[in-house]
Amino acid sequence: MAIKKHITLQLLLVALILSFANGEGLKLGFYKKTCPRVEAIVKTTTASYISRAPSLAAPLLRMHFHDCFVRIKGPAWPVPLGRRDGRVSNASESRTLPSPAANITQLISIFASKGLSVKDLVVLSGGHTVGTSHCSSIATRLYNFTGKGDTDPSLDSNYVTQLKSKCKPNDKTTVIGMDGSFRSFDDDYYTFVLKKRGLFQSDSALLNDKETSAYVKRQAQSHGSKFFNDFKDSMVKMGKIGVLTGNAGEIRKQCALIN
Ligand code: HEM
Repeated sequence: MAIKKHITLQLLLVALILSFANGEGLKLGFYKKTCPRVEAIVKTTTASYISRAPSLAAPLLRMHFHDCFVRIKGPAWPVPLGRRDGRVSNASESRTLPSPAANITQLISIFASKGLSVKDLVVLSGGHTVGTSHCSSIATRLYNFTGKGDTDPSLDSNYVTQLKSKCKPNDKTTVIGMDGSFRSFDDDYYTFVLKKRGLFQSDSALLNDKETSAYVKRQAQSHGSKFFNDFKDSMVKMGKIGVLTGNAGEIRKQCALIN
């Protein structure tokens, strides 16, 4: 039943190709000779999974750092391929991911350290137009913002009431929608952020910098505008970060284990 309700996401197709790449070594049509049908196979397989379980689309987008083709109801783009697997896999690497409590200075600097611009930051944050979050990711914001049992004042108070009705303190299991239309990939994310309804502090923080706030306002005011195109460009750019190509790394015999 729930799956039927999520029908809009049937159009959301994220096809991941397994294998990893450096930026220069990635190219379109990498598997043309060695595995000509790979793109079609991955697309069809992923589409069939997503049509049965549409909520898979958002986590797949989130872990897009893998070699991927992405086709979303809105934006679709070919992704340069040829990535190889790394020889190291450990939890410490994930610590470089920004925290949902990050402020704008921290976000800009983390993105810059990966070669991503301020514009990439505001555009890629738009990925939070789809998917869900655990209540635990916003618990501090709702219930103990400065350690005094208070709420983050940068959140709209009506939204706080709504969120509190879904997320009780210490709730580790409930998930809530990322924006009001979290099942469809659209540019509503920016409307929500502008209304002080960005779910994470990192979303709200986009209002605290001149360039990012100007972008948020532009997108919120002019729907159907440049967001999809910008998103494609920034995703391709992000997809080139730290990848291994050529003889670097390895091709894993089992995805989850180094050889
Ligand atoms: C700007 C810094 C970012 C921060 C701080 C951040 C943080 C988070 C957090 C805390 C969650 C929810 C985890 C949970 O409680 O379940 C989440 C989910 C998600 N993020 Fe981000 N994120 C960032 C950037 C991005 C980018 C660049 C993308 C993709 C372009 C992205 C796509 C997503 C998606 C699709 C989900 C939902 C996943 C699902 O439904 O399972 N995020 N993010």
